[in-house]
Amino acid sequence: MPESVLNPAPIVRALQAAFARGASRRELLDLAARRMRAAGPPYTSVYLYMVHGNDLVLEASDGRETEHRRIPVGKGLCGQAVAERRDINVPDVGAAPGYLACNLETQSELVVLIRRNDEILGQIDVDSDVPAGFSAAEEAAAREVADALAVLL
Ligand code: SME
Repeated sequence: MPESVLNPAPIVRALQAAFARGASRRELLDLAARRMRAAGPPYTSVYLYMVHGNDLVLEASDGRETEHRRIPVGKGLCGQAVAERRDINVPDVGAAPGYLACNLETQSELVVLIRRNDEILGQIDVDSDVPAGFSAAEEAAAREVADALAVLL
């Protein structure tokens, strides 16, 4: 697989080290958001939405502010991913049915679920100002971070 912009291994190590010294859930989510965004384009903004009943609640983010702090399961790309139990990689948000816009700059979006066995704990949602920002390699790299969070949260 071609190389990804996101290098997940150091992020996973940082999450494990933070967990080992007793970091809170909030600190782990903040760390993941900050370190993923630090990869630079296509990682424009990173949002950690976690499942609370029938809603997704924004628990951490890095990048642009969003007004979408709570999204019902089934709504938007974020809610669709949970309802359909699948990751979603949208190359052109303008053409995506149900897309909830946070700003006019976002061109593409990647949603990767945080799953522990059959349970969906939440998701990493990445907005990109780059059209078709996320290759399959990028998707796989983001999934490694999500899988680490699934174990540590
Ligand atoms: N675009 C998302 C909403 C969340 S913001 O991108 C942070 C969606 O369609 O669900």
